[in-house]
Amino acid sequence: HYELTAREANAEILPGLRTPIMGYDGIFPGPTIKARRGRRTVLHYRNQLGVPTVVHLHGGHTPAESDGFPTDLVLPAAGGSGYASQAVGGTTSAGTRDYTYPVDQQAATLWYHDHRMGFTGPQVWRGLAGFFLITDDEEAALHLPSGDRDIPLMITDRAFDADGAFTYPAMDPHLISMPGIDAAHMRGATGDVILVNGAPWPELPVAAVRYRFRILNASNARRYDLTLDPPAPLIQIGSDQGLLAAPISHTAITVAPAERFDVIVDFAAYPVGTKVVLRDGSGQVMRFAVTHKATDNSTIPARLAAVEPLPKSAATTRDWMFRQGKVQSMGHEADGWVINGREFDPQRIDATPKLGEVEIWRLASDTQHPVHIHLSPFQIISRNGGPPAPTDQGWKDTVDLSPHELVEVAIRFDDYAGRYLLHCHNLEHEDMAMMATFQVT
Ligand code: C2O
Ligand code: CU
Ligand code: CU
Repeated sequence: HYELTAREANAEILPGLRTPIMGYDGIFPGPTIKARRGRRTVLHYRNQLGVPTVVHLHGGHTPAESDGFPTDLVLPAAGGSGYASQAVGGTTSAGTRDYTYPVDQQAATLWYHDHRMGFTGPQVWRGLAGFFLITDDEEAALHLPSGDRDIPLMITDRAFDADGAFTYPAMDPHLISMPGIDAAHMRGATGDVILVNGAPWPELPVAAVRYRFRILNASNARRYDLTLDPPAPLIQIGSDQGLLAAPISHTAITVAPAERFDVIVDFAAYPVGTKVVLRDGSGQVMRFAVTHKATDNSTIPARLAAVEPLPKSAATTRDWMFRQGKVQSMGHEADGWVINGREFDPQRIDATPKLGEVEIWRLASDTQHPVHIHLSPFQIISRNGGPPAPTDQGWKDTVDLSPHELVEVAIRFDDYAGRYLLHCHNLEHEDMAMMATFQVT
């Protein structure tokens, strides 16, 4: 059992300035929740903010009633009943709600975040995101770097005003229809300050040994092309949904919004005194200062986990097209983002996959979209008819579609019937209606 309260707070993110945030337990990122496979976790959630919220466990294999459907609102604890009408096709709870997570899934780096319909972008931007780490015995037996050498890194970008407050592109439809703001907001909210675990461009002292970094891009819209400088391999051991079959060495990884990369960096490759920069293209994300030598009993086994390959063909194939389109916004038509030509409607079911059957989903786009599917992980079969990318291995829950790309994935919805989502994880695209509902039957 875990108590979690969303509330307003002030954070000192930029030195000497106060940033008002919406934080789980009043902090950003929210507290890291740790769970063991097979041990059910109940989240006693309390909403002390002035607005409705919805908690979603991203990557969780979760029964529909606890998955955080965007209109299953937890209203403000104090006087929030005026918002009840926003629960179109959903449920409301007054102030508190229990979310039940069976945690019947392999060890993985998950995260939880707000999922309120139409407001996920601004509410996550103000701070509503945290890690949820699942461990299991198989992983523990591998002797990967652990303890203070196993570090989750939540990368986000934010923009600030002169007083230190977060600035977010206007949601006002009249402003949005002005050319410059319109174009920027259509691409998604970005900022010029990179935060890692809520701190701008931090430096982490490390020993000259192997570290495991669980990299999460929790940005609303920005991708990171990560490399180390001076160069060293990023040895990928895990993906969105847990360990790979075998480690893969990369010189660079591109991390799209909501993706996770579990990597090992061996700082023994550097002399003591080196500052190692984690770069995004030409800019800095953070630094590691190699301060001393130490003994290292960790290993990177050649076999990490059993990854059952899903069939590459199936009786049911579904096409999902992600592109720009017209949506209804506050009573008039506006530019937005749609799937298969339709904007999100919480009362419409767009597909009805059957429990336990493998399906092939063909995800296509004319622009760039990180596509996320709830409930079950998938395997990437092909990109534009060719093989998957080196970073596509393992079980995924989010895949980045490049412009004019068709990605085929194999997926099987197990265990829980009910209503779930697929959507673009550019959070502004999601809020501008690039979301669809499937009902597992
Ligand atoms: Cu990370 Cu539907 O969300
Ligand atoms: Cu999710
Ligand atoms: Cu998108």
